[in-house]
Amino acid sequence: MYKIVEKEMLAENIYSMDILAPRVAESAQPGQFVIVIVDEEGERLPLTICDYDVEKGTVQIVVQTMGCSTKKLEKKDAGDYLHSFVGPLGVPSEYVHENLEELKKRKMVFVAGGVGTAPTFPQVRWLAEKGIDVDVIVGAKSKDKVILEEKLSKYAKNLYICTDDGSYGFHGMVTAKLKELVEEGKEYDQCIAIGPMIMMKFVSLLTEELNIPTVVSLNPIMVDGTGMCGACRVTVGNETKFACVDGPEFDAHIVDFDEAMQRQGQYKKEECAIKEEI
Ligand code: NAD
Ligand code: FES
Repeated sequence: MYKIVEKEMLAENIYSMDILAPRVAESAQPGQFVIVIVDEEGERLPLTICDYDVEKGTVQIVVQTMGCSTKKLEKKDAGDYLHSFVGPLGVPSEYVHENLEELKKRKMVFVAGGVGTAPTFPQVRWLAEKGIDVDVIVGAKSKDKVILEEKLSKYAKNLYICTDDGSYGFHGMVTAKLKELVEEGKEYDQCIAIGPMIMMKFVSLLTEELNIPTVVSLNPIMVDGTGMCGACRVTVGNETKFACVDGPEFDAHIVDFDEAMQRQGQYKKEECAIKEEI
């Protein structure tokens, strides 16, 4: 059992929880995720890691209430326990193994959309702590949906907030901001995009045009998280990959986003029916 030591509402339907899981905190690396089972009857819920504190032994997860399991999780409070907390899972971000001096020369831009801002944070922190400057573009529907701005502003060299409705920061989507920055003369050697699949698809199309190598963190439906069930199957460069063990990060320019989106939506009807019952 894993104790929830802190819970905070970041925005409507978006919660942050610090979970006491020292072994996960010790071995977590940027780009990885966890699988949570809320209670004995619960399904396996893949969640991105937002932060980890080795000294406190805690792992911060950020959850958007969407379906049955996230609704169950939302009802838990600080002091309650989670049935299971497995991780860290997935392959860490590639740059973790790269030469730091080489990495320092690279101009990197992160593009984070909505709840995808949470898994972006540990990457930005890791790089900043190693002396690598990164720009970060964050997109949200409106001002009240912008999350983790304060945390990110401590580590990002430049933080650009965008809102779809123009209620805060740049008025427009993250793709429009990235295009504007490049047109103004910014040069980027690598883009890392994390957010809704549709956002990652359009960031990928743009960066292909701009000739910026891009990595995306895919979040397909997952069941076991061990490469056995095939639920998280995605096509990357005409090859079948399992996001849970081969990813979740892939070269954006060879991901079949349309297939990934179609597979992601295949249980929507069933999820909605269960949600009604809760
Ligand atoms: P959202 O719909 O509010 O979108 C966030 C931002 O993405 C927008 O403000 C916009 O700037 C950009 N965006 C959206 N559609 C776009 C388009 N067509 N073209 C260009 N930019 C676009 O985001 P949300 O409601 O927070 O998204 C929730 C989704 O994020 C869920 O589906 C969840 O599965 C996914 N998610 C993904 C990850 C991941 O690891 N990739 C992690 C957490 C959540
Ligand atoms: Fe089962 Fe990836 S979740 S193979």
